[in-house]
Amino acid sequence: MSKPFYITTPIYYPNAAPHVGTAYTTIICDVVARYKRLAGEEVGFMTGVDEHGQKIQEAAEKNGFTPQQWVDKMSLNFTTLWGKLNISNTDFLRTTQERHLKTVREIIKKVHDKGDIYRGEYVGKYSVSEETFVPENQLVDGKYMGKEVIDVKETSYFFKLSKYENALLEHIEKNPDFIKPEGKKNEVIAFIKQGLQDLSISRTTFDWGIPLELEEGHIIYVWFDALNIYLTGAGFSTDTEKFDKFWTNGTVNHVVGKDILRFHAIIWPAMLMSAGIKLPDTIAAHGWWTVEGEKMSKSLGNVVNPEEEVEKYGLDAFRYYLMREATFGQDADYSKKAMVQRINADLANDLGNLLNRTIGMQKKYFNSEVVLNEVEESFDIEVKELWKITLTDLDKHINNYQFSEALKDIWKFISRMNKYIDECEPWKLSKDESQKDRLSTVMYNLVDSLYKIAVLISPFMPETAQKMINQLGLDKDVAKLHISDIKDWKSYPVGNKLNEAVPLFPRIELEEEPKKEYNENLKIENPITIDDFNKIEIKVVQIEKVEKIENADKLLKFIVNTGKEKRQIISGIAKWYPNEQELVGKKVQAVLNLNPVELKGELSQGMLLTTVEKKKTKLVVVNDEVKIGATVK
Ligand code: ME8
Ligand code: MG
Repeated sequence: MSKPFYITTPIYYPNAAPHVGTAYTTIICDVVARYKRLAGEEVGFMTGVDEHGQKIQEAAEKNGFTPQQWVDKMSLNFTTLWGKLNISNTDFLRTTQERHLKTVREIIKKVHDKGDIYRGEYVGKYSVSEETFVPENQLVDGKYMGKEVIDVKETSYFFKLSKYENALLEHIEKNPDFIKPEGKKNEVIAFIKQGLQDLSISRTTFDWGIPLELEEGHIIYVWFDALNIYLTGAGFSTDTEKFDKFWTNGTVNHVVGKDILRFHAIIWPAMLMSAGIKLPDTIAAHGWWTVEGEKMSKSLGNVVNPEEEVEKYGLDAFRYYLMREATFGQDADYSKKAMVQRINADLANDLGNLLNRTIGMQKKYFNSEVVLNEVEESFDIEVKELWKITLTDLDKHINNYQFSEALKDIWKFISRMNKYIDECEPWKLSKDESQKDRLSTVMYNLVDSLYKIAVLISPFMPETAQKMINQLGLDKDVAKLHISDIKDWKSYPVGNKLNEAVPLFPRIELEEEPKKEYNENLKIENPITIDDFNKIEIKVVQIEKVEKIENADKLLKFIVNTGKEKRQIISGIAKWYPNEQELVGKKVQAVLNLNPVELKGELSQGMLLTTVEKKKTKLVVVNDEVKIGATVK
């Protein structure tokens, strides 16, 4: 019997609505949880929300709520969405729950008893948006991850994180599965090797958090509070038996985005070492989603709303796309075009057609009844061989969080079965009475493979799997399926009858977006704001007089009328106007709020605008209808 399996998502800040990134992490955990259940393991799957801290308090105030009202309201966005995304979590935790406060107090006590907490002062930068203390060397242009930081100077309690440097390195080295994937593990090792600083674990400048019992006025730093949720979810403060089962004797798996890997792979294990609790078995960090090639952000207005996507494409297509498109650990791009291609090629064509063709032929040749008088041929042996490989590859890939690879394993089998139809040509067999038994064998193999495929895709696409099971005429609940049901060939019950075929995924036409007649994605090299531009005073002026300047053969001296006064302007355009007198009377444009300068002993009280090309420079002449003194803007 394998160990109980405990898997967790990060607990999200309920400030902002959930989006494709949070949906991705949660769907990953759901896929793994469902797969493990399918493999017969007992699964605990927790998700939840991170409700304390400065960021929440500020958002609540900004929106006119108390922090508690605010998190009560915002947390509902998460529970609702997870329901709609078919997430099979066994618990939903909030850091404001009593059971969690109990965990945090107990852990702080253990860490304090160990002598790992001391009083000091924190002076430095703090990022409210990431809820993290930021060393100076991590600032870029004074910002952290593109956001403003604040200065903090306050008395604080510290956790002796530096003490655990070697123990952490040793643990990571001895446990190859501790941080996944490999590349991320190396980043963590490199970071620890730079040296760890003790961590400030209390704040005094706001009050939305769990009070630190060591001193009045201190509340526990939000990460030192939040990480403990994983213990709470396993029953730490409420159910010792459950805790022993899932945490102490089970496998503990944290899935996080790369942004918060350090909290999970450094601070969290050090806290557990200090408290004398078993460390998690695996911390798996995934990459970042961009949207149509751009960073996803509120200010760009391109945040992908999972509910809208599910409306457009269907839930299982959305789940499939996220899991198939991203290589775990690397960044991925969310794109409409790629989504539509996946739906049409993988789901509607490969999977949908295999099911449709099979059900259609079974109806035509055997009145939907699945019969078997076995006559085996070499193609059959090939597909059965591939089936065995599919199961082992899939298991390996899911255990390594390589979901895209896992789906490729299933799709390799689907494609093989589509090819099997073409190889065996049931339509020819059906015309030859002596081939009836061979025909029954071919059709049986197809039906059996579809049953197998339905079970394998059920962690990724539970609704689709259920539809397939129904169309295959099986009276089974996908949530109760088991890999052992379909492990061997011939798992489909002979004599059973198929139901009608209903297309699983309608094809989607990608409406051609009208081609833009301009470049939508311009890169402005030295951007200015309209306020910058408005600083420049440009007016139409009339040239009243022009003359050459002695000993400065490049320059011309102008007297211009600005509508308000006469000014002298010197301009280096003599070369381009050998007959300079032709300019008298012309209306041109001039910048009038430049500081006056002296050029070759002459005062210049402005600048005439010119167009500059390689071989000529010309004044910008204005149509005669324009009045002298008109503003150019
Ligand atoms: O960090 N692509 O909460 P959070 C992929 N409360 N995943 C993304 C993403 C993107 N563009 N944006 C966000 C916190 N995520 C803390 C966690 S745990 C004890 C405390 C996902 O609301 C990803 O999983 O900022 C990331 O780690 C998480 O959202 C951060 O959520
Ligand atoms: Mg965040």
